Amino acid sequence: MKRIKAIYPGSFDPPTNGHLDLIERGSKIFDELVVAILRNPEKDPLFSVADRRKMLEAMTSGFDNVSVDTFAGLTVDYALQVEARVILRGIRAISDYEYELQMALMNRKLQPGLETVFMMPAEKYSYLSSRLVREIAELGGSIDCLVPELVEQKLREKIDVAHKFESGEQSGGKMPSEPKSKSRKKKL
Ligand code: PNS
Repeated sequence: MKRIKAIYPGSFDPPTNGHLDLIERGSKIFDELVVAILRNPEKDPLFSVADRRKMLEAMTSGFDNVSVDTFAGLTVDYALQVEARVILRGIRAISDYEYELQMALMNRKLQPGLETVFMMPAEKYSYLSSRLVREIAELGGSIDCLVPELVEQKLREKIDVAHKFESGEQSGGKMPSEPKSKSRKKKL
């Protein structure tokens, strides 16, 4: 029987319990699953790619068939490079569908041999996104149960540092040019 390798590409800024739920589901149906973090120089992420990789590695250490990697460029090119046949994506609600369908069909046009497989995370994560997690954490709300403890800790550390900068404690009064949240774009 052919072994099926899948990639789960995304920004994971930060990884959430919704991502973990999908990874767990994916690990049960694919022989191998690579969580692939996009290295996107145009985005202004909260966490560096190295930090995101470390968090995802810790989160997925219990799954034998899951690994974490980073990639740049087209997802389909990366999939071919690692000999994956499937792109795994999560759909939380109908609102995700249009964007995901467009991406899946474009990826199919680029590389007809690759299949996109959509999976739904548990209902309790259907309203969860990395963007909201960042926003809630930055504004001091509770992100309990939305992200793993390790991610919560890292978020708190980041935000504490940002607040210290804002209050001038770490920069000798110098403010950072712009809070990251303002220049960051869109989505998950
Ligand atoms: O977690 P995200 O931000 O929703 O993930 C989006 C991602 C990384 C899957 C998508 O932006 C992507 O595939 N980027 C790589 C560049 C690419 O292949 N673009 C064409 C998509 S049809």
